[in-house]
Amino acid sequence: MTDPSDLRLRQYPDPILRERAEPVDEVDDRVRGLARRMIEIMREADGIGLAAQQVGLTIRVFVCDVPADPDASETDGVVTGTDGPMVCINPEFVDASDERSPFDEGCLSLPGLRGDVIRPEVVTLKALDAEGRPFEVRGGGLLARCWQHETDHLDGVLIIDRMTQMSRLKNRRKLRELERA
Ligand code: NI
Repeated sequence: MTDPSDLRLRQYPDPILRERAEPVDEVDDRVRGLARRMIEIMREADGIGLAAQQVGLTIRVFVCDVPADPDASETDGVVTGTDGPMVCINPEFVDASDERSPFDEGCLSLPGLRGDVIRPEVVTLKALDAEGRPFEVRGGGLLARCWQHETDHLDGVLIIDRMTQMSRLKNRRKLRELERA
């Protein structure tokens, strides 16, 4: 069993980042303790999202803390921010918009790298919260992007796999530096 205090941020090319995480069977105190520690690590690193693999775990859990976009209207029931830290367990997308857009993404596990990733603008996320209660929420903007980025992590997928060709070329040297480090 993993002690939450043993968790630390993992960086590319740590092989755990390429592993596929397993669904959580039961949301218990152990899972809550790990999620709490993940929130701390995310904050210490000034991140807006963190997935289990990034701290060496292979469970389908991510945390995020995204400030709402003050310019976005929430008329369609689309939320753009979290109200404090959010824990998502066994996340899946039940819907995604046809509208896609590029956005310059970074990742705590890929320090120094940034690049354009094209993703659906609005998605509906279904997951369990830290109490094990199911919820479904439609998100847009940076929040939708963060959810998709973190869920990718749970499948062992990184932004370097999804970047546009141009961004991939731009980051090639940085990536080699990480691989050599
Ligand atoms: Ni990331």
